[in-house]
Amino acid sequence: MCKKCWLTVVLLLVVVVGMSYSFIYQGKTIESSDGRKAVVLNEAEKDLLLSEMRGFLTSVQQITTAVTAEDMKKIADSSRAMGTAAAAAVPATLMAKLPLEFKQLGLDTHKQFDMITLDAEELGDPQHSLKQLGHLMQNCLACHASYRVQLEQTK
Ligand code: HEC
Repeated sequence: MCKKCWLTVVLLLVVVVGMSYSFIYQGKTIESSDGRKAVVLNEAEKDLLLSEMRGFLTSVQQITTAVTAEDMKKIADSSRAMGTAAAAAVPATLMAKLPLEFKQLGLDTHKQFDMITLDAEELGDPQHSLKQLGHLMQNCLACHASYRVQLEQTK
């Protein structure tokens, strides 16, 4: 192949790799005043993310109450509501704006809710569920310590 063609191929590859990197790895974040990374979202995406968060909090509240009542069915149902099935509703456009670490933490949180559901049904041990919930909540802390949301500038 001619020299110029090679050069074009290499340049295109650099562009593709660069774009994939920013798309998959970095997402769309900026530094913010409190030292956390701000994920830049439009209003609808922010609303969706925060409503998912309130869903997380609801499940956490319901599970802890169900643990004290030793109600295994309620534990399983409350954690199922925030399992990986719930994550499937997130649109690809929002996914693209989230950095890789953020997505991994989010997905791992949904997976851990699934584990709580499975174990609640199979083991029937409320103390085990509570222990799992305490472990899962380390993800809430880790993500909140590193990330916040910022609204996109609209003209
Ligand atoms: C992958 C990252 C991530 C994980 C995991 C995560 N959160 Fe959040 N959460 C956020 C971000 C980002 C915000 C917005 C914070 C801000 O802008 O200051 C938020 C906000 C919230 C809010 C405020 C909602 C509102 O309406 O303002 C609640 C409540 C919340 N999270 C609960 C939880 C709970 C409970 C868990 C764990 C079960 C959790 N979050 C796990 C990223 C995460």
